[in-house]
Amino acid sequence: MTSALPCTVPIALGERSYPIHIGFGLMEQAEVWGDLPRAAAAVLVTNTTVAPLYAQRLQRVLLTYYRHVHIVVLPDGEAFKTWNSLNLIFDALLEQACDRQTVLFALGGGVVGDMTGFAAACYMRGVPFVQVPTTLLAQVDSSVGGKTGINHPLGKNMVGAFHQPALVVCDLATLASLPAREVSAGLAEIIKYGPIADMEFMGWLELNIPQLVDLEPQALSHAVRRSCEIKAWVVGQDERESGLRAILNFGHTFGHAIEAGLGYGQWLHGEAVGCGMVMAARLSQDLGLVDGAFVQRLRTLIERAGLPVVGPVLDENDNAGRYLQLMRQDKKSQAGAIRFVVIDGVGCAALREAPDALVRRVVDACCQ
Ligand code: NAD
Ligand code: GLY
Repeated sequence: MTSALPCTVPIALGERSYPIHIGFGLMEQAEVWGDLPRAAAAVLVTNTTVAPLYAQRLQRVLLTYYRHVHIVVLPDGEAFKTWNSLNLIFDALLEQACDRQTVLFALGGGVVGDMTGFAAACYMRGVPFVQVPTTLLAQVDSSVGGKTGINHPLGKNMVGAFHQPALVVCDLATLASLPAREVSAGLAEIIKYGPIADMEFMGWLELNIPQLVDLEPQALSHAVRRSCEIKAWVVGQDERESGLRAILNFGHTFGHAIEAGLGYGQWLHGEAVGCGMVMAARLSQDLGLVDGAFVQRLRTLIERAGLPVVGPVLDENDNAGRYLQLMRQDKKSQAGAIRFVVIDGVGCAALREAPDALVRRVVDACCQ
């Protein structure tokens, strides 16, 4: 990969504001680390896949700022986003006698980022942490905005906390080692920003999706930057999801049902979200909010990104019933009623309930 100009997107949250630095080779650039929280020790949390690729490089950089930099290596995968893995972080923090100033660094994808952030929110009732995302999905979504947590067997991301990072460093060069399937998963969360907030961006994505699949530097820089700008705009208005922020969950209600229903890790989070967006768009159509041409347009883009567009069967006997059962556990549900993020006129999203019969029709139409 060649270079493209680095940039910074600010997240404006008063005293919890922070910058997102985006560019190639940032890990080794001193400027991006200028605002690090001061402390004697840092703990770098990563996983078995990312550790051999980037942990020593980041540790070397951090040793110019901290006297001790301990590395914690977690097992890799969505199936390990659990209490047990979280406890490995707490074990290390306590064994190293880490104090309240200790800074945690999350080096990896969304799984490492969500768990490290949650550990930082809990350890001694809160220590600072920094996100160094190394998947496309984490760079455009999960590292930004302060949602942290773990999965529960009964529901995804059901245990967690809001805890904003002090800094996000997106080194786009780390994506060179990312498997193609993971690149596609990241594209799902990028595509999401079009229909919910910026149809011009969706048009740009339609023109540039092959370049993004190939991680072409200029296209990649623009897509990561625009995604972070939109997320910063949403989170800046509604940090704790009392309203607007829910639109970032477009496709996630169906998607989380797919992930939990198949078993965590069978489909990647981004794959489930991609397919979930097709289902949520179809629901929007059936509610009379968008036309079939828009649904087809979005479906085509998702498919061109290398993502599944047909939902999996979760129960041979009552598939739609199983989707409904899983979706009732969604965090947006109220008093047992599922609230879906729907497209309410292209480029604009809203939360809506829908009759079970209609949801059943959508699931039946979208699953194999
Ligand atoms: P992930 O963290 O499992 O990473 C995907 C895979 O890529 C893993 O095997 C990982 O080890 C590997 N990997 C990471 N960086 C690599 C690199 N540079 N080169 C090679 N391999 C690399 O998955 P993800 O897609 O990054 O994140 C998904 C998670 O993020 C889900 O748990 C989801 O719930 C969460 N999420 C959270 C938010 C939020 O706001 N907090 C938003 C979206 C998603
Ligand atoms: N990814 C959804 C959110 O950050 O709110």
